[in-house]
Amino acid sequence: MTDAPRLTGVRALGALMDLGFASIAAGVLARRRPVVRLLEHMQADERAVERIQQLRREFGSGPVELIIPGRRIVVVLDPADVGRVLAGAPTPFHPANREKRMALRWFQPHGVLVSEGPIRDVRREFNEAVLQADNPVHDLAGSLADGVAKEADGIIWAATQRKQLDSARFMSSWWRLVRRIVLGGQARDDETITDELWRLRSAGNWAFLSLPHHRMRARFTERLYQYAEKPDPNSLLGALTETPARGAVDPVGQVPQWLFAFDAAGMALIRALAILATHPEHHALALQDATDLGATHLRPYLRACILESVRLWPTTPTILRDTIEDTEWGRGTQRFTIGKGAGLMIVTPAFHRDSELLPFADQFTPEIWLDGRAEQYPQLVPFSAGPAQCPGRNLVLLVTSTLLAHLIGRAQFTLTATPRPSPAEPLPATFNQLTLDFAVDALTVPHG
Ligand code: HEM
Repeated sequence: MTDAPRLTGVRALGALMDLGFASIAAGVLARRRPVVRLLEHMQADERAVERIQQLRREFGSGPVELIIPGRRIVVVLDPADVGRVLAGAPTPFHPANREKRMALRWFQPHGVLVSEGPIRDVRREFNEAVLQADNPVHDLAGSLADGVAKEADGIIWAATQRKQLDSARFMSSWWRLVRRIVLGGQARDDETITDELWRLRSAGNWAFLSLPHHRMRARFTERLYQYAEKPDPNSLLGALTETPARGAVDPVGQVPQWLFAFDAAGMALIRALAILATHPEHHALALQDATDLGATHLRPYLRACILESVRLWPTTPTILRDTIEDTEWGRGTQRFTIGKGAGLMIVTPAFHRDSELLPFADQFTPEIWLDGRAEQYPQLVPFSAGPAQCPGRNLVLLVTSTLLAHLIGRAQFTLTATPRPSPAEPLPATFNQLTLDFAVDALTVPHG
């Protein structure tokens, strides 16, 4: 047994730049608009794909250790190792990684994502119970669907009047819906709470370099508790207060993650809308799923469209772990030991878009989520996998597929922004969700 292959000095930093630069520069927790624009221009995620391919050619299936000042970082190269690492949470691969803890400490110090020891298991259980992780149609589906329908009415009315919808307008409607779902109807117009969360997230972007933000955090938490005092029974906060929890769980302390994570769902949704607007065959199939706007309708094709949007453009571009025990790696005669105490990176865009391994790498192929193909590739992990997999996955798919059904079923969206993705060409590696723009026409005969 030997040590894993290592890169040091300039070579290690160069690899880290290609693999982590895009997500760090764009803002890990709050996206920086001009940087996202620049990264799209550079097609930055292409560099991550190429770098992983090059490392695999050089070192075999790996992994490879990058030695940078103060930190050893293990980069996973083998698709099978993606599955193995994610299955190995929390031991030996712990999700409460050092960098993640630093970034999230300002707004969710008690969130499951950064919890360690036995309390992690209890908080995880609590999150799974409220979010109903294993239930494709959450018990709140009826009220969620009502909320989606009301916000969809507003979006479609304004967009068809103006004959236009852009990312900024879509996202402000999206946040109204998110506040309604998470905090209840009375919070729908409370932009202050999500603006404060945004500022805390922006501070988190700076991780180790961030100054303390005690007052900002106290104000945000105070507002959260005000909603929790008289919770709307039709919201996640309502479900939370009905769910028994042991003392140290800090139920309300889980809510910032839920609010924050719905941002990613909005990104996935608007990109899916852009793709359906430019892919007529998929649009026709998606429309068949948009005929029934009832609460319990599953909409498998629209769910697959959202999953495919997050495969193509992962909203968690790097899944991080810390190794808390020595671990063995490699295949056949190439066996390595990696000592505990290292950080570990799974660079999802590099795995999701690797044309050497995936025949559908750069094409919109929602079918892979329906015909069993996606399950054959352990490296396709838009919502992570294993014991730390996103417990909000089903809820996200329910809410986004319902809103997508309203949008495409009731109006015609034509993408007017560039780049204009096409089924005849590979999709862009980096796709800026902040500058999308659509021409919108009401459907003369409303679908369904
Ligand atoms: C498109 C939307 C979303 C995507 C792509 C997504 C993806 C992810 C990923 C990749 C992780 C795992 C990170 C890791 O393994 O370290 C995660 C964790 C988590 N997500 Fe999501 N998420 C989304 C939305 C949501 C929403 C809306 C909620 C709650 C309402 C949520 C709740 C959580 C929680 C609580 C965790 C921590 C799980 C743990 O550490 O055990 N997510 N999510």
